[in-house]
Amino acid sequence: MKLRQWSTVGLVAVATVATLNTVPATASRPYDPTTQSLATLGLRHGLHVGTAVNMDALNDASDPQYRRLASSEFASVTAENVMKWESLEPTRGTYNWAPADQFVEFAKRNRQSVRGHVLVWHNQLPAWLTSGVADGSISKQELRELLRKHITTVVNRYKGKIWQWDVVNEAVSDPWDTPSTLHYKGFWAQNLGPGYIADAFRWARAADPKALLFYNDYNIEAFGSGNPADDKTQFVYDMTKSLRAQGVPIDGVGSQGHLGTQYGNFDTLQVTAALKKFAGLGVATAFTEVDVRSQLTEGVQAGNAEEINPRLQASAANFSVLMKACLAVRSCLSYTVWGFSDNHSWVPGWFDDPPEGLATIYDENYQPKRAYQELKSDLIFAGPPYVLPRIAPRPRR
Ligand code: XIL
Repeated sequence: MKLRQWSTVGLVAVATVATLNTVPATASRPYDPTTQSLATLGLRHGLHVGTAVNMDALNDASDPQYRRLASSEFASVTAENVMKWESLEPTRGTYNWAPADQFVEFAKRNRQSVRGHVLVWHNQLPAWLTSGVADGSISKQELRELLRKHITTVVNRYKGKIWQWDVVNEAVSDPWDTPSTLHYKGFWAQNLGPGYIADAFRWARAADPKALLFYNDYNIEAFGSGNPADDKTQFVYDMTKSLRAQGVPIDGVGSQGHLGTQYGNFDTLQVTAALKKFAGLGVATAFTEVDVRSQLTEGVQAGNAEEINPRLQASAANFSVLMKACLAVRSCLSYTVWGFSDNHSWVPGWFDDPPEGLATIYDENYQPKRAYQELKSDLIFAGPPYVLPRIAPRPRR
């Protein structure tokens, strides 16, 4: 890897460490890192700890705690929904910019970096687009042009304000899909073929020369068999390698990090190894949507501590595994949680058979859970020689 392709964000971290170290620690008032925010503690390593932001919750005047934590605890923010195509262009040709603009303004006011989410995805597309393709009134050729226009328009509007863009989201199938051999799935691959992925990155780059352009997906936290027919991480790795070899401007791979305590899950070194392997391709990495849900058994719902505690503990451990792996790999630029409090998590609404929840780092009353404390300790106890400032790639032209 050529050194000049890389710029270090370590300077920021060094400056921050210097600032922290100048805090006078007197015998009467010793410096206490546990009182610092995740944002401040992460930036000591140049790492942006972020959250997805739900605009309804943010604008709910009866829920001031949400806004307070969203603005103070995190160094980076992602719009949970308002930058998705169905939200931006509900009617063909008529853009609804206000919520996304408000989100970007919020970040600016709080000096937070923005992860743009999301330009190309098969979900949350406007009905006029999907039904137009289904009834044949939008041709394949027109669809490709609509996608180009969408990417260009959105990236252009927020040019200079977006740190990382999720350009393509969840393009790869899962082993439980049909056929079970991993493949490019969903609306875009079906209608345009897999070439839309390279096109999307090129169109995004043409509109913003400086944003870091990411591919984003779930279930790619660790390698499995190594066979791309059933190992999604390997499939995404091979895809990224091939895009880079073709000169496609992909700068990063985002691992969503939606985990559940009922699954096998990974240890820190497995996840570290995966991040390192991606880093070997010259791309940045990030955890982009971390949450760790649990099944809400009858016992959990009845408030049975013997059922609740091990789940909270396992959730915290999984949050921590991803954080430690991220800290260990210098190309891992950010760690974003997908909502920070159980009262505004997408999990109960999406995973309801069986019901799941308890997926975030604060409980429903904004009390920090074990997961929050573990993330904090991971950040506090990390440092040289194994944890070093982040290194960001220069956006690829
Ligand atoms: C989810 C939101 O959290 C929900 O509010 C919405 O109803 C559906 O989408 N992967 C992604 C995110 O990339 O955009 C999804 O967000 C969660 C899964």
